This record gives sequence, structure tokens and C-alpha cells, in this order.
Amino acid sequence: MATMTSLIGLINKIQRACTVLGDHGGEGLSLWEALPSVAVVGGQSSGKSSVLESVVGRDFLPRGSGIVTRRPLVLQLHKTENGQEYAEFLHLPRKKFTDFAAVRKEIADETDRITGKSKQISNHPIHLSIYSPNVVNLTLIDLPGLTKVAVEGQQESIVQDIENMVRSYVEKENCIILAISPANQDIATSDAIKIAKEVDPSGERTFGVVTKLDLMDKGTNAVDVLEGRQYRLQHPWVGIVNRSQADINKNVDMIAARRKEREYFETSPEYGHLAHKMGSEYLAKLLSQHLEQVIRQKIPSIIALINKTIDELNAELDRIGRPIAVDSGAQLYTILELCRAFDKVFKEHLD
Ligand code: GDP
Ligand code: NA
Ligand code: MG
Repeated sequence: MATMTSLIGLINKIQRACTVLGDHGGEGLSLWEALPSVAVVGGQSSGKSSVLESVVGRDFLPRGSGIVTRRPLVLQLHKTENGQEYAEFLHLPRKKFTDFAAVRKEIADETDRITGKSKQISNHPIHLSIYSPNVVNLTLIDLPGLTKVAVEGQQESIVQDIENMVRSYVEKENCIILAISPANQDIATSDAIKIAKEVDPSGERTFGVVTKLDLMDKGTNAVDVLEGRQYRLQHPWVGIVNRSQADINKNVDMIAARRKEREYFETSPEYGHLAHKMGSEYLAKLLSQHLEQVIRQKIPSIIALINKTIDELNAELDRIGRPIAVDSGAQLYTILELCRAFDKVFKEHLD
């Protein structure tokens, strides 16, 4: 019997393969859309990139004030069992990145390649896979931060453009929403919660994440929010303490940051009783568990969709002929092979 871990790994592969197919106008998109993913949404500088890095356990995302993330980043995490750790971009096949500073540079360069060095945004996603023994299997989507005003050099439409782009991801029923709200702003005015509430009124696919707990005014705390009394979600709220800008400037590494975060909760008079349900590592675990549960529920409908896709891919291959070289036929063939493997794993799983 296949383990859930390998199942999610396989889903990551198929999702990527189907995105390639989708780019070529094929039928893959519908399969891609059937699989769950996790999108990170929130206002600018709410801590989205920091949360993503914490979940991954590596520093690799471009950071800074303003709109740094100007294209969606589709980030697939693959847990490795052999200790290997590297990253790969879909637009640079077969190039293994082991230097995560180079990954950060490539994200920035690839963003500029499409958007120019302007402050414009693009709907065209960057696909990045990270292989590491220190991650759980997840697909995460980093989105440009929601903003309330256009800045110098941007068109007025940017506020609406970003909101529309974010909505196009989070409105999908199979999108798990990681709604990031900074603790030093009123949760009632949180951009993330506003959009999550709109597309997921029951809160069944929204995880509320409160960042910057360490930056709250003295004498105030977020216990009411974290215990679900201020805004009720079906899933528990998770509080996070990321690295501050000063920590980043001092090159405080991820391991030290996590230790500091754990200590923060364990020694906190306000949050001590919640310590075991707080922090980046707990968030990663919670997400992975939820994803597995969602996938289990979806197995029958995914099998039906895959069988349909296999038939369509076979018909397409009959039409264009079986591949002899690396061309669209070969690509289709690879996808077909992946679908078969996928189907097999699901069937084994059901047995
Ligand atoms: P993004 O724009 O939403 O992706 O936010 P970033 O992750 O880039 O963070 C924006 C800034 O807020 C950076 O300077 C971070 O160091 C800082 N920051 C994020 N989370 C926290 C936190 O939990 N505590 C503190 N003190 N600073 C944080
Ligand atoms: Na930022
Ligand atoms: Mg960011």
C-alpha cells in the first residue's frame, strides 16, 4: 500500500506536468484544477514571504519593502529521504540549485524577464520545486501582496489587478487559503481575512495566520484572535513570530529563528498555554495533515478525472502519432505515463 507521502509527491509531479500541458493548450488544466494547493495571501509586508520561508525552512525568497513579489510563485515542496537538498525551476529544466541565494536571484531575474524592471505585475506564474529532508510535501502559491494604493510608476489599476489575480487563485474550491494578518494591525481590517471571507464564507478552507506577535503594543495581545473569539474560522488560528528586519540584517539563520520562535511561545505569559499549537513548524504540520485529508476525500473524483484524461491523451497521441523525439508528443507521453502511475497509486490506496 502506497503511503500518503508518496501520494502527495506524485500529485506534485502531475500538477507540474499538467501545467506544462496547460501552457500548450491541452486538456491538462482541468486535472491541475482538481488538485488542492495552498495559496498565501495578505497585505504588503504582512510577512507572507517570511511565513513561506519558515514552512520551507530555507531562506530563498526575495524580500523587501514594496511589491517584491510581482508574479505568482508556485512552490512545490518535496521531502527527500536521502538527505539531498536542492531546488529546480520549471523554466530551467535539469539545472539543480544547491545555493539558495542563487534561487532568490533567479526568482528576481525571472520576474524581471516577464515584467521588466517596472513595478508591473504579471499573471504568469514562476514554478519552483524544492527538494529537502526538512520539508513536508506541499504545493504553496506565493502571490503579490494586496495593496490599497498604487505607488509611483504604477498604473492606478494595480490595486484591482492584484486583487483580481489573488481572487483567481483563492476562489477555486480546492484552494486552501493561508490568510496572513499582522498582529500589529486590526484583524477586522485585514486584507487577507476580507478576501478569504468573500471566497470562503464558511471558513472551511481558510487557515488564519497571525504574524508579528512580537511587535504588538505593550499591554495588548492577540489571544482573542488566536482562540477564535474575534473572527471564527473552522480551523484553529496559528500565531507566528518571524525574523524581524533587524534579524534579517544580522543574518539570523532559520534554525536560530525557529528556536527563538519556540522560546517566544514557551516563555510567553500570554501565549504559553497555546505554545504547542503555535509557530511555523506547527503550521507546516497542520497544513500537511489537512491536505492529506482533502486528498483522501477527493480520491474517487480524481480517479474519474484521470481516467477521462488518459482517454483524451490516448486519443491525442493516436492523432499526432506516438513520439519519436522530444516534442509535444513526447511531452504528452510523459504526462500519460504520470497519469497511469497516479491512477495505479490511487487504486492501490483504495484496496
Ligand atoms: P511580505 O511582503 O508579506 O512578503 O512580508 P515579508 O515576509 O517580506 O516581511 C516584511 C517585513 O516584516 C520584513 O522586514 C520582516 O522582517 C518583517 N516581519 C515579518 N514577520 C515578522 C514577525 O513576525 N516579527 C517581526 N518582528 N518582523 C516581521
Ligand atoms: Na514586502
Ligand atoms: Mg513577499
